[in-house]
Amino acid sequence: MPSVYIKTYGCQMNERDSEAVAAQLVAKGYTLAPSEHVADVILLNTCSVRDLAEQKALNKMENLAADIRRSRPHVVLGFMGCMAQSRGHELIDRLPDVDLVVGTQKFHRTADYLDDIFAGRRDKVVEVEEEKGSEATIKEHLLHGRGDANGGHRLPLQVTAFVSIMQGCNQYCTFCIVPHTRGEERSRTIPDIVKECRELVSRGVKEVTLLGQIVTSYGRRRSPRPSLSPSDGDRLAKPVERFLPDRGSGVPIQDGKSPFVRLLEAVHEIAGLERIRFTSPHPRGYGDDLVEAYARLPKLCESAHLPVQSGSDRILKRMHRGYTRERYLGIIDKLRRVNPEMGITTDIIVGFPGETEADLAETLSLVREVGFDNAFVFKYSPRRDTPAAAMPDQVLQAVIEERHGRLLDLVNEIGKKKFQDCVGRRAQILVEGPSRKNPERDLRITRAGSFTLYGDPAIVNLEESNHE
Ligand code: 5AD
Repeated sequence: MPSVYIKTYGCQMNERDSEAVAAQLVAKGYTLAPSEHVADVILLNTCSVRDLAEQKALNKMENLAADIRRSRPHVVLGFMGCMAQSRGHELIDRLPDVDLVVGTQKFHRTADYLDDIFAGRRDKVVEVEEEKGSEATIKEHLLHGRGDANGGHRLPLQVTAFVSIMQGCNQYCTFCIVPHTRGEERSRTIPDIVKECRELVSRGVKEVTLLGQIVTSYGRRRSPRPSLSPSDGDRLAKPVERFLPDRGSGVPIQDGKSPFVRLLEAVHEIAGLERIRFTSPHPRGYGDDLVEAYARLPKLCESAHLPVQSGSDRILKRMHRGYTRERYLGIIDKLRRVNPEMGITTDIIVGFPGETEADLAETLSLVREVGFDNAFVFKYSPRRDTPAAAMPDQVLQAVIEERHGRLLDLVNEIGKKKFQDCVGRRAQILVEGPSRKNPERDLRITRAGSFTLYGDPAIVNLEESNHE
């Protein structure tokens, strides 16, 4: 059987999609190649969120076409994911060496497309249609180190895994291409997600990260055509308002709890699972029920990645974010009241159209006020078919660069200080690989870099023996 190499660009959702495609291909008999140089199929799973990400994948494919194709003409080259979805056939027009373009609702069909190509049934494949139910098809796991599940090598048991709970986004932020590349919000059912998590735990996983483009909207959207079992036929006949995945009640909020919080509760019940994370929530959907979940659910890690994008109300409005600076700060305040140690990270865009020095000053002051543990700072990148790209007052690139530098300096300064404050503390860690000598899982943080904490378990052991 042919061997496949998948290179992934972009977010955790993309990583997860690649893993699921790889697992599906392995189940069909494909092997995973350790590098592009020996693979029979090379797939680039792409990101469209900024132009830079698209350019990286386009350049990579150009190089593959020039280098690999020349020496091994039988190699199949393909694009998957967000850029495949947004550009479709255009990719083959531009790069005629590309054989396959797989959109975001067609990942699970990749093996069939490859079979068609290898059997000579199809020459080029471009599949970017919407597909009902595709949100429930990202469920297979490799359960090895990500992207390195090469045969023969014994890899340490994987203790942490990503689980896709929903696809798409209906928020339509004016800068964002995701609603175009990932489609409308569609959620998997709670039982389906819990089943996947249980299986992962039975295979040694201790921590799951629940993934979606906007997890706080999980299960809130009415499904236009829910996929129901035959016994649901009667209800289907009536045009009643129904919500997935909460098939029982048909209402998104129950006992003051959103479907997302109910999902967290259900996953929390799984015996043997030790930690739960999720990304990304939207501040707009970050209700008190979710804040309180941190107090009630001990497995929920005390960290929140809460993208703010800007500290200026004027810009937040133009971005169509659906919250104000005050509301955002209110959520942070509540989270810290639940747990003052809560790790808080964010995403910020600089140079959104119309952003002035005064708007940037608001962002800088918000960053100081919150004291983020870390922040991803992005230079605004105009995306096709988004309202912001057509706004008249685009910020000059040189200005964007300069603001980006200033904001990043501040973020790094605060992050470094936060990490330095950790030195000397005791923390629980998740061991991703086996230790030969020491079974302890707590450690004492001894040193801090900008993005890394260093610790020593031996000191904790010593402390414990001192206390005895
Ligand atoms: N330009 C710059 N950054 C963007 N992001 C999303 N769209 C754009 C864009 N057009 C950033 C946001 C988002 C993160 C994943 O990427 O900060 O939270």
